[in-house]
Amino acid sequence: PEVEFLNYEILDDYGWEIDDDDLFRKAAAVGLDPEDYGRFQVESNESLLEAAENRGFEWPFACRGGACANCAVAVVGGETEMFSNHVLSSEMTDRGFRLSCICEPATDDMQVIYNVKHLPGLDELRL
Ligand code: FES
Repeated sequence: PEVEFLNYEILDDYGWEIDDDDLFRKAAAVGLDPEDYGRFQVESNESLLEAAENRGFEWPFACRGGACANCAVAVVGGETEMFSNHVLSSEMTDRGFRLSCICEPATDDMQVIYNVKHLPGLDELRL
């Protein structure tokens, strides 16, 4: 599967909203740094976080086991499979939030906003 990603901090910088349907098109158009916007492949048996790290990216994490929210991402395109989540409420997962350390892509293409740990509701779950 291929993941198209965007750093949440960029939304702040540009005043973009997380639920903007054109978000990734805008991100592709403005010439962002490779660590803030791009694509990578996820191999089988890699979590989303491991795949990012194995392709040279430094995404936030702490526990690596589904017990904090430091690695949280917002999935805005595609689907994931997530295992043994202990911290995200069903309301948060309904809104598309996932823990990148314990989730894998379930569709061939995904769009993910990483670094969302400072969003209200996730901030207090961090270690
Ligand atoms: Fe703690 Fe993923 S790093 S839940």
